[in-house]
Amino acid sequence: MKQLLIILALFTLIGCKEKTTPVNEVAVVEDRFRENYRPQYHFTPPTMWMNDPNGLIYHNGTYHLFYQHYPEDIVWGPMHWGHATSKDLISWEHKPIALYPDELGLIFSGSAVMDIHNTSGLGTKDNPPMVAIFTYHLMEGEKAGRKDFQTQGIAYSLDEGETWKKYSGNPVISNDGNIKDFRDPKVFWDENTEQWVMTLVAGDHAKFYSSPNLKYWTLMSEFGKNIGAHGGVWECPDLFPLQIAGSDETKWALLISINPGAPNGGSGTQYFIGDFDGTTFTPNQTETKWLDYGTDNYAGVTYNGLADNDRTFIGWMSNWNYARDTPTEVWRSAMTLSRKLTLHKNEENGYYLKNYPVPSIENYNYDKVTHETMNDGMSLSSDNYNEQRLDFIIPGELDTFTLTFSNANNDSLKFGYNAEGQFWLDRTSSGLTDFSTTFAEKTHIAPAILDDNMDVSISIFMDASSIEIFIDGGSTVFTDQIFPTTPFTALTFTSEDATIANLKVSKIKRIWK
Ligand code: FRU
Repeated sequence: MKQLLIILALFTLIGCKEKTTPVNEVAVVEDRFRENYRPQYHFTPPTMWMNDPNGLIYHNGTYHLFYQHYPEDIVWGPMHWGHATSKDLISWEHKPIALYPDELGLIFSGSAVMDIHNTSGLGTKDNPPMVAIFTYHLMEGEKAGRKDFQTQGIAYSLDEGETWKKYSGNPVISNDGNIKDFRDPKVFWDENTEQWVMTLVAGDHAKFYSSPNLKYWTLMSEFGKNIGAHGGVWECPDLFPLQIAGSDETKWALLISINPGAPNGGSGTQYFIGDFDGTTFTPNQTETKWLDYGTDNYAGVTYNGLADNDRTFIGWMSNWNYARDTPTEVWRSAMTLSRKLTLHKNEENGYYLKNYPVPSIENYNYDKVTHETMNDGMSLSSDNYNEQRLDFIIPGELDTFTLTFSNANNDSLKFGYNAEGQFWLDRTSSGLTDFSTTFAEKTHIAPAILDDNMDVSISIFMDASSIEIFIDGGSTVFTDQIFPTTPFTALTFTSEDATIANLKVSKIKRIWK
């Protein structure tokens, strides 16, 4: 009997142990991605280096995000395409690496399309291929001092992006012209001309190609040598139509990332609004327009596969000036929030793009607190502004103001409007800044691009290591990384004449499970 009891006790113990294992697993999972500075509601790779978003495509209810990834270090290295998926563009699930370097080179940036008519023949009519179009970068060629080391290749997936095969006829566009910078193909299906159209950058301009089948490409035209910003090399183009909000007029937008040469230093994204007749892009503007005046929104492009006029954008939330030096250890870099791009026109600004977080972000707000007004000298406090959003308006005529986030260590992050009619963001004393000479070099300045209405609306999203500020629904935007030594807990408003009204402060749910 005694023996039986011992055996029973042993079984119970083993049973208990088995029962506790899943609990431990849950505990481990909940602790995932809570390292210092790990964004809690922005996409980051699980570990190691990330730069540009690639192959943004929506298919069968799933948003795919591929990205420039070096899985062996937290600095840039031989490029792969990492992969993640999402149902709502906010929460992401990490997937296995999609594309690995091969004998033709590293896998640089590019796009993805669903070849639903199987024009490429790489799938079947019943199971059409998802096709990735990317740049091959051959290190050996570069090292040998040649100029033809960037070419374009394609790969395809017959299982919704889970596994990929390179096309055996790669490269599909070779580099005959000895063009050193020849990269970042963005492809879409042009319904008007019933062919694939590719935009590619070649140093100081964009090139447009067409193809019936994604394999054979013909150069159609070029754009940009004598227009726009040229402080650095052109990268990551994107061409798409958009209807002007509140009108029937449709225009084409061409995004071009440029590094260096952005208005506040280093990498940034300019855009052109104009017409595309299926062959040639003709701009309607002479001045340079910028999508974002912060220094941390680069190489952003939009999704393929969404409805007309649904332009959804993701950018890389860093800058080549200091991307390799930011103070994180397990992973490096995040993406911006997914944003909707909309096109607008008014007398003051002509045609202009707004970018603002996708509506699904509203499902992540909780613990909302409302404050009627904030006047000169008023302060608020919170346990952690680095997981919150603030929405408010500045009613009436805009006047100079300063909004300061601070913490117990005297780090401060300031945002405001100055007497020259500019918005500004000052992260020079925002915490860790000395990992690079350029990170805290200067205050970031933006011209006030505003809607016609008098009240100015402002939304601020702050995560563990970033701030995104959207003025008037994204007419003027700042996206900036920040590394406070401890989270911001105080908010102070100063202004002689302006006030803040309808201030709502909400926490944002973390996306990692
Ligand atoms: C932009 C970029 C692209 C290139 C990729 C390489 O950040 O320089 O032009 O394809 O990064 O990782």
